[in-house]
Amino acid sequence: MIRLEEMGREEFEASLRAAVARRTQEQVERGVWSASDAGEASRREFAQLFPDGGETPHFRFCRVVDAASGHRVGETWYSVETKGGKVQFWVHWIWIEPPDRRLGYATAVLEQLEREATERGADRMGLFVASDNTEALALYTKLGFNTTNMRMAKRLRPAP
Ligand SMILES: CC(C)(COP(=O)(O)OP(=O)(O)OC[C@H]1O[C@@H](n2cnc3c(N)ncnc32)[C@H](O)[C@@H]1OP(=O)(O)O)[C@@H](O)C(=O)NCCC(=O)NCCS
Repeated sequence: MIRLEEMGREEFEASLRAAVARRTQEQVERGVWSASDAGEASRREFAQLFPDGGETPHFRFCRVVDAASGHRVGETWYSVETKGGKVQFWVHWIWIEPPDRRLGYATAVLEQLEREATERGADRMGLFVASDNTEALALYTKLGFNTTNMRMAKRLRPAP
């Protein structure tokens, strides 16, 4: 149903810019960062995560393509690395374009990544999700993911 194709440089840069903007907005809405500093904080966070941009070791930045039509329907970022004597397979990001949602594309991507993780010797596959992302939580729960860690926060002032 889908193919994962490595992004080119410009495509990765556009994907990263969108991620920086999304993170900026989310962190302001959650009241974590101030509107004036959030953009810089977000840029810095991604620069630390991807010191070599699209060439950062262990990461793959892919577009998701519908195999039948060749149409780009989304993107995913994931990493594979051996640490502590075991293969660590992490899905850092998955995005399906709004008109293409609820058609099973994210499920197909995660199933393909699960096969790759298994082939590469991983015993498990991890991902990150915010607790207010109900769509993604529904997807991951349906696919058999369980919560392994939780961050907790208590609001001390109302959100802006
Ligand atoms: C989350 C996301 C990737 C799901 O992609 P998708 O291709 O629409 O997902 P699928 O069609 O494979 O959905 C599979 C199941 O996930 C759950 N699900 C997906 N979207 C949902 C929604 N809006 N509401 C409730 N459940 C939802 C359902 O159980 C669904 O099965 P169903 O359609 O048979 O009910 C997509 O909504 C998205 O790109 N969101 C914005 C980016 C994002 O939040 N990414 C996750 C970051 S952690």
